[in-house]
Amino acid sequence: MHTTKQVTWQSPSNIALIKYWGKHGNQLPNNASISFTMENCYSETTLSIEPKLSTSKEIELRFYFDKKENLAFRIKIIQFFESIHKEFSFLRDYSIIVNSMNSFPHSSGIASSASAMSALALCLCSMDDMLNKRKIPKDKFFERASTIARIGSGSAARSVYPTMVSWGKFKKIKGSSDKFATECGDWIHPVFKTFQNSILIASGDEKKVSSRVGHSLMEKNPFAPARYKQAEDNMNELIKALMVGDLEQFGEIVESEALTLHALMMCSKPSYTLMTPNTLAMIEAIRDFRESSKLPLYFTLDAGPNIHLLYPKKIQSKVQEFIDLELKQYCENGRIIFDQVGKGPKLIK
Ligand code: PMV
Repeated sequence: MHTTKQVTWQSPSNIALIKYWGKHGNQLPNNASISFTMENCYSETTLSIEPKLSTSKEIELRFYFDKKENLAFRIKIIQFFESIHKEFSFLRDYSIIVNSMNSFPHSSGIASSASAMSALALCLCSMDDMLNKRKIPKDKFFERASTIARIGSGSAARSVYPTMVSWGKFKKIKGSSDKFATECGDWIHPVFKTFQNSILIASGDEKKVSSRVGHSLMEKNPFAPARYKQAEDNMNELIKALMVGDLEQFGEIVESEALTLHALMMCSKPSYTLMTPNTLAMIEAIRDFRESSKLPLYFTLDAGPNIHLLYPKKIQSKVQEFIDLELKQYCENGRIIFDQVGKGPKLIK
């Protein structure tokens, strides 16, 4: 009789405040980045293994997304497993089944690679410890999971920790590294721990240009050196604002980072645009409302057209009114996902 071994993790998505855009080597970032961990948008992944019946050293994998076998994802995950098989010898010795689902709809335009890759990396690390009958210290476990998640998708490195997380070597952040992310929750002002993230879906369509291609276009982008310098300056300024709770400075940097990311896409060769007219209409409406209400609400964008509206919990009801009255009309089928700063990944079983 064959014994199946199984582990399940839930791991959240994250939204970058300082954007990682441009990489080198084995998924190493060209600049340090920092993000909020989300709470409601997560992937739940189960890794099951049983001894192989054959002696073949080929990776044997079945991949199910939303309970349906998914061959496109299977190919991607096999490539990922090939790249890390030296770290996890069981990948060649066992027959593997991965079952994954997202808490958010597939067509919501929310990047699922961060949550999916971090959930899978956490499962791999837990399984490895289980097979080797060892329990490594918690900090080392998450450092390893972050390193493995990074190899799957750079931004996934930041999803293994709660609240606020940086990734990339940065002299002002103790213990920071290009290889894995660092938790920042202990030095940020409490107001940021109450932050809400309302995701306004301008379009749920599949991205026209993948992040992988976007990163590679930075190699020949004439503005790349200036961008990496700006990212460093913005990190320094944002760290100060995060420590003292300076919301205005926070907003100025975060919005500039989002627009810089999209400007870099627009001036790459070939050029492309991911914002839509509704993205711009929402940006204008947010700026006008902020000016008239004097409330601290700010936008950021991922590599897509959707607005992430960031604000402290204490102004939630006023922002909700503003969303209903003015922003909802620009959302595809009125779709909005309400999220907030999250507590990080969870071991389910
Ligand atoms: O993790 P990747 O390779 O999909 O790149 C993500 C890049 C951005 O989401 C645009 C920015 C970031 O830091 O998350």
